[in-house]
Amino acid sequence: MLWCCHSAGDLAKKKIYPALFALYVEGHLPKNFSIFGYARSKMSDEEFREYIGGSLTCRLSDGENCGDKFDEFLERCFYQPGQYASEDDFRALSDRLSEVEKEKEKANRVFYLSIPPSIFTAVAGCASTAASSPSGWTRVIVEKPFGKDSESFAQLEKELSNYLTEDQMYRIDHYLGKELIENLTVLRFANLVFEPLWSRQYIRNVQVIFSEDFGTEGRGGYFDQYGIIRDVIQNHLLQIVSLFAMEAPVSLAAEHIRNEKVKVLRSMKKLSLDDVVIGQYRGRSGSGVDKPGYLDDDTVPEGSLCPTFASVAVFINNARWAGVPFLLKAGKALASRRAEIRVQFHQVPGGLYQDKLGHDGDRSSNELVLRIQPDEAIYLKIINKVPGLGLNLDVTKLDLTYKQRYNIHLPDAYERLILDVINGDKRLFIRNDELDAAWALFTPILKEIEEKKIQPETYPYGSRGPIGSHYLAAKYGVRWGDILSAED
Ligand code: BG6
Repeated sequence: MLWCCHSAGDLAKKKIYPALFALYVEGHLPKNFSIFGYARSKMSDEEFREYIGGSLTCRLSDGENCGDKFDEFLERCFYQPGQYASEDDFRALSDRLSEVEKEKEKANRVFYLSIPPSIFTAVAGCASTAASSPSGWTRVIVEKPFGKDSESFAQLEKELSNYLTEDQMYRIDHYLGKELIENLTVLRFANLVFEPLWSRQYIRNVQVIFSEDFGTEGRGGYFDQYGIIRDVIQNHLLQIVSLFAMEAPVSLAAEHIRNEKVKVLRSMKKLSLDDVVIGQYRGRSGSGVDKPGYLDDDTVPEGSLCPTFASVAVFINNARWAGVPFLLKAGKALASRRAEIRVQFHQVPGGLYQDKLGHDGDRSSNELVLRIQPDEAIYLKIINKVPGLGLNLDVTKLDLTYKQRYNIHLPDAYERLILDVINGDKRLFIRNDELDAAWALFTPILKEIEEKKIQPETYPYGSRGPIGSHYLAAKYGVRWGDILSAED
């Protein structure tokens, strides 16, 4: 088993190598494995080990230290410099791979393309032509962005398909590797209590919220070409919606699950500009705080209209969900870092207890919250009698906070996904028709925003985002759950 992580880049250093190390420490990597870094910069094996060594941390639970594991792991890491579009350089890589593979009957190869999209095809082509495994399987992991719109996505797919089969390709959306997202289908389909309520009959709206309390500092150059809709909403949030809203799959097989997800995506109502709010953050200083605005970043073009915040109302036109707003919100440089799904149920008809709720009255419908991060939790807000004499009610939680209930280290999304690639399990990877449907939904609205040069609404760094986002929710009789109950 061989790993080839392209790029000495940020993602590789922060996520991929640490995930591989964690898998190694926990005994999940195959017995014989080697890891090769491949990028243009010149580096010796030793320098490479030093470079990645700094970002590996030992996460053994009971305070045990990793001891020799650290050195053992690094001994299996090598580096091969080369150009991205050079078959000769990839052949040289393949020769080195063969050296460490020698005498093994069968050696599989995984290429992780953690590289800029402009060189996806060249690298996939060279890797496939000049460095595929001669004796085992070859799999390739690709990271977003998968194009910028329907056309560029189709073009990319066409080019990649010259070199790779769909079977070989593992398209990562790391949100699918997060613990709570993998649990979403379990929650729905392994519990009797939720599924019967999972429809327009009981659910008033669904909110999928992603917020970060930092800006694009340092990534402005990349981010400006994409914006928050392409960076987070079209992929991470839409994937969550499709898992949330899909019908029960025939089985847990990857194809069955993905068949259901794609139906949700294909049932989405065409988006209208009235259902989209975009924003861009401005700097904030004073009271000891000094935060730069998006446009203050030197790598961002002057006067850029790129959205760093967006909220979008999407509707699924099918029997289960017609008329239920799915409100998606994503933003950089907001008040807090969190990702969550909020399911707000209808009010109890008749309102028998409405007047006993005091100031909780306007929060009196049940809400199920799946907090994806930080501090993973699932909780259900219910109306409960305050203990004691008299009849006073309040809103309280049935609370499954993971730290309290399980108290174990949760694997990083990349650990789970990399292990799935080794095992050939595609349940948590995106199929090309899912992306095709996701782009079909967002391409027209992105074009309209760009062609009409729609001005993003500004919001201060560290705030709760632009006012327009509240109006959008209010249009559907909704209040954003994260703002209504910021203490949750
Ligand atoms: C990436 C986006 O896909 O996800 C980033 O490109 C974003 O802009 C990141 O910061 C968030 O991932 P996580 O796992 O930290 O929530």
